[in-house]
Amino acid sequence: MHVITVEGLGSCRRGLHPIQESLARTHGSQCGFCTPGFVMSMYALLQSSQTPPTEEQIEECLAGNLCRCTGYRAILEAFRVFAKTSNILYTGVSSLNLQDGQSVCPSTGKPYSVDRHKPTSYNEVDGTKYTEEELIFPPELLLKKPTFLNLTGFGGLMWYRPITLQHVLDLKAKYPNAKLIVGNTEVGIETRLKRIQYQVLVSVMHVPELNVLETREDGIEIGAAMRLSILLNFFRKVVTERAAHETSSCKAFIEQLKWFAGSQIRNVSSIGGNICTASPISDLNPLWMAARAKFRIIDSKGNIKTVLAENFFLGYRKLDLAYDEILLSVFLPWDKTFEFVKEFKQSHRRDDDIAIVNAGIHVHLQEHSDNWVVADASIVYGGVAPCSLSAIKTKEFLIDKI
Ligand code: FES
Repeated sequence: MHVITVEGLGSCRRGLHPIQESLARTHGSQCGFCTPGFVMSMYALLQSSQTPPTEEQIEECLAGNLCRCTGYRAILEAFRVFAKTSNILYTGVSSLNLQDGQSVCPSTGKPYSVDRHKPTSYNEVDGTKYTEEELIFPPELLLKKPTFLNLTGFGGLMWYRPITLQHVLDLKAKYPNAKLIVGNTEVGIETRLKRIQYQVLVSVMHVPELNVLETREDGIEIGAAMRLSILLNFFRKVVTERAAHETSSCKAFIEQLKWFAGSQIRNVSSIGGNICTASPISDLNPLWMAARAKFRIIDSKGNIKTVLAENFFLGYRKLDLAYDEILLSVFLPWDKTFEFVKEFKQSHRRDDDIAIVNAGIHVHLQEHSDNWVVADASIVYGGVAPCSLSAIKTKEFLIDKI
């Protein structure tokens, strides 16, 4: 691992990084939590983009940085200098204030001399020079392969990082109450804020079988440790490559994942963790259920069984999963012609917020005697019951309706 903090980018003493400089110049600085957060989110985006990001990508990368005090205009203005396009509305000259080709001051109405073809930015930082002399990921770390790790912590806590599936299964057989973790986004909250104590934690991040991500003849196989950001990008690629009707579910997941926490969380949290947490307000579980996904479960002896997502959630945080079993992968089938899947989420705030209610909806239409009838349907809600709930009576009512 290679960790860069905001101090690694620049400081008043050593000189500011262009991102910091830009934020300071546009008066976008906030408190000691927000400012480093915004800077590092923007830095991560620039470091991971092959080409300059779009303005939309910049806004998306800041969705996980919630400041309780500010509007974001000055911050976005600071970061727009690094974008592919520069929007004239955010520069010193607005095309609305042009009169006979001359710029006019909006308050006095008097012309002033600015070349309208060369918008002047309030910000003097040149974002195009960004890529020079950046920190790189240390090459010697790239050569290192993950190895088995075993650490102990407070109160006898044991933390394991196996690198083979067999070792994970052996640990699960030995410690049936062991908690599997990937990004620690749920267990971290449970242990720090809810004071829940676990004796054995098993990090499964580096197990190859749990990181599978492949398209098959009949759908997509997704390993349980697959990170949400990687899956989101994979879905985005798949919808450009497959027939439109096959990827209705993928499109619904793309939309839902956009509003799933922020990019920092999506970068490390896994689909298996989200499923097995079995939150009654899970954003994704209603969609897995509606999209007729299947979960592959493996026990400590290596036996594999398949369970329909619809039958996996038994009650409040209760799963059809024995102590010696783990979720191995998720299979998402392609949609057929005239089969449609849609997502729904209602929350207080659009970005980075828990839903009040959410849903996954699936309908399959068929032509019958010059009419379109509902051949199959599924409507699954989150936030209305102890677990994601399928509206079975509604489904029965809809079937065969015109
Ligand atoms: Fe940090 Fe608003 S300035 S929360």
